[in-house]
Amino acid sequence: MKHIAVYPGSFDPATLGHLGILKRSTKLFDEVHVLVVHNPSKTPLFSSSERLNMIKQSVRELGIDISPIRFASLETGLLADYAEVHGACALIKGFRTVADIEYELPMSQVNSDLSGVETVFMASEPGLGYVSSSLVKEVANLGGDISKYVTQAVATAVKERLDAN
Ligand code: PNS
Repeated sequence: MKHIAVYPGSFDPATLGHLGILKRSTKLFDEVHVLVVHNPSKTPLFSSSERLNMIKQSVRELGIDISPIRFASLETGLLADYAEVHGACALIKGFRTVADIEYELPMSQVNSDLSGVETVFMASEPGLGYVSSSLVKEVANLGGDISKYVTQAVATAVKERLDAN
């Protein structure tokens, strides 16, 4: 039986923390769907397709094996339904701090109620626990160097988008 996981998030943009979780999750599952999900509580800098393209480019740039990864987006509807329709047994959630767990725990329980899908929590890599998409955007917006936190593909895209705005 093929073990499929879904790694959902806003990924606006994906950081090296996200990409580390994605890489590690491919060691645990046969197939991992990285799923760009529309989060109505956030105003994204990039469209879903731009975010997916940046993840693809970053996977290539970092030499991560792309073969077990599927790239998709979810504009509406439940994550639990996406998981069920695609035969996924698990959702992957990265956490950096206890605050992340507090935010994620109720969602994992609701997702389990909805479709029985498990949530697998993966701790962020040492050294990347403080990196978030919003901080990356803030640093870039104020003229700071984000190259320690994101791939070259993402750094270029963020710079171009902020310069255009
Ligand atoms: O990167 P983010 O913004 O923290 O990701 C949060 C996200 C998009 C994964 C979360 O908001 C989510 O799971 N949305 C899907 C909508 C859904 O199914 N909601 C109901 C049960 S939690």
